[in-house]
Amino acid sequence: MTRLIIDTDPGVDDAFAITLAALDPGAELLAVTTVFGNVALPATTANARRVLALCEREDVPVAAGADRPLVHPQPHRAHHAHGSDGLSGRSAALPNSTRAARTAGAVDLMARLLDEADEPVTIVPIGPLTNIALLLASYPELATKIERLVVMGGAVHGGNSTAAAEFNIWSDPEAARRVLVGESVPCVLVPLDLTYRCAVGTGWLDTLRGSGPRGAALCALVPDYLEHYRAALGWDGIVLHDAVAVAEALRPGILDGVSYPLDVDCSFGPSRGATIIDRRRGGPHPAGTAQTRAVDIAMDTDLDGLREFLLAGL
Ligand code: BDR
Ligand code: CA
Repeated sequence: MTRLIIDTDPGVDDAFAITLAALDPGAELLAVTTVFGNVALPATTANARRVLALCEREDVPVAAGADRPLVHPQPHRAHHAHGSDGLSGRSAALPNSTRAARTAGAVDLMARLLDEADEPVTIVPIGPLTNIALLLASYPELATKIERLVVMGGAVHGGNSTAAAEFNIWSDPEAARRVLVGESVPCVLVPLDLTYRCAVGTGWLDTLRGSGPRGAALCALVPDYLEHYRAALGWDGIVLHDAVAVAEALRPGILDGVSYPLDVDCSFGPSRGATIIDRRRGGPHPAGTAQTRAVDIAMDTDLDGLREFLLAGL
């Protein structure tokens, strides 16, 4: 049984990712914590609660966390991809949560769950890393209770938010650097390079839509997102970045990782938020000044097998 916490900013692909974890019979989803990101925190929190209601998993606690980055005063948003409310403007079509709203306490909830856990817990951050940085800074003694972090973020070759940076890292580079470089919790990074290769087409979406009311409800959240990716991919499909990371959390090893030294650019120059992955043979040059640590970077998978796993799980 995989015990996991998802830290998220729903977000269309986050909605698919949460659903995958919430429905997996081999997983114990301990909590969903929310962070600013694709849209503002109140909307990401409301969206997370609605997605759990869709999955009939309102037993899973939801708590809201950071509403802005650690340092940079102005949060970035991704309305251009995820629509006005984060779910292609269709969030109201999802069932309303019937549970009383918990509007704060993400970090404390994670800490309590880790403290109480008999076995290590996997945390899957699929938004900006602000909550995770705060967790590790506030409760360093709980780091050993984290089995691993499976992080959707970063890029080996070029970003999506800027030419250099991927959205989740760009949204809070200082938090990302703290978590990915400044800590020693085992970590798998699922970068854009792989998530783009796992894109699913409209045929895949049609099959999901036909699978039943929940599949149809998920597909109803896709229109703005599909429009965005039509332009980005040049074909009819969407990229389920966050669901790829959740797949690895649920089935360790479904993605093939390679360990590379990594750093995060926290400068205010054009490559702010870039993940700097050192793929030189022989490791870092001794004269290098960057502070890095080795992180498993997910580089490959059986693409069709992964798409089938997502479809079956959703
Ligand atoms: C990441 O950014 C967000 O827009 C997605 O939800 C995903 O977590 C991809 O760069
Ligand atoms: Ca996300």
